[in-house]
Amino acid sequence: MPLRQTNALSENPNGLPMRVAGRYTRVIGASIARAWENVRDWEHLPWLHADSFSDCRLDEEGDWGWRAVTKGAGTAAAQETVIELAIDAAASRYVSRTLEGSLPGVEIWTRLTKLDTHETRVEVEFHLPHLTEAQADKAGAGLVRLYTKLWDEDEAMMIARQKALDARATSRNPAPVALGTARDLSASLPRLVESDAGPIRLIKLGDEMRAYPARCPHLKGPLQFAEPDAAGCVTCPWHGYRFDVTSGLSADGRGLSLGVMPKISIDEQQEAWLVWPQ
Ligand SMILES: [Fe+2]
Repeated sequence: MPLRQTNALSENPNGLPMRVAGRYTRVIGASIARAWENVRDWEHLPWLHADSFSDCRLDEEGDWGWRAVTKGAGTAAAQETVIELAIDAAASRYVSRTLEGSLPGVEIWTRLTKLDTHETRVEVEFHLPHLTEAQADKAGAGLVRLYTKLWDEDEAMMIARQKALDARATSRNPAPVALGTARDLSASLPRLVESDAGPIRLIKLGDEMRAYPARCPHLKGPLQFAEPDAAGCVTCPWHGYRFDVTSGLSADGRGLSLGVMPKISIDEQQEAWLVWPQ
């Protein structure tokens, strides 16, 4: 029986027998803007947190927050849980609740406090229903371990995203990049080169050399770590956006593309250059 607590910002709106099972506090090296962006970002759960989630289907989202049907990972991959995250912006806190699943009525309250430009305090409190004190203590310890890992993963994404935002390429006409002789280049692949258009990854796909932007156009996630799959596509580790590295086009039906694709051009002296179509 689903709980009747949609969008509820009060504690324990169904009057369940609740216990505070644990608390977790940390300071992350990211701005509060990055932190709120991460809170609203339901789409990263099965990708960035692939050890904890295998699926996340959005039910509804708005200024109030979001609600989604999630699946666990590993041995819990078949376990569906409806999670709703409701935001109390004025109090700078939010609650994520399980509405359906193995333990409905769990409330995880989190407060975000800006400490500095790139420093935010995160205070989490786990409220669990229907448990004895011993069960709650055990569950609380498990949740603290889980949240430490989730926030480690989130913090790494936020810091990398901030770095990519700060280094945003501005040039509309990127200068060609000298890549050395064609023979040396071919022997050095894969590699990453910096350019006016941002980092570009150079790879060998079959016998051909290819170049593609190494930042995901969605939220600037890193595309340089995974090798292209058998279909010649790379997948962003943050939200799973997938691109064909030859055409730069979307390969997951979500319609994003890598944008203007640089090419490796070899001149008469057998020198290789990274160039952009004019
Ligand atoms: Fe996250």
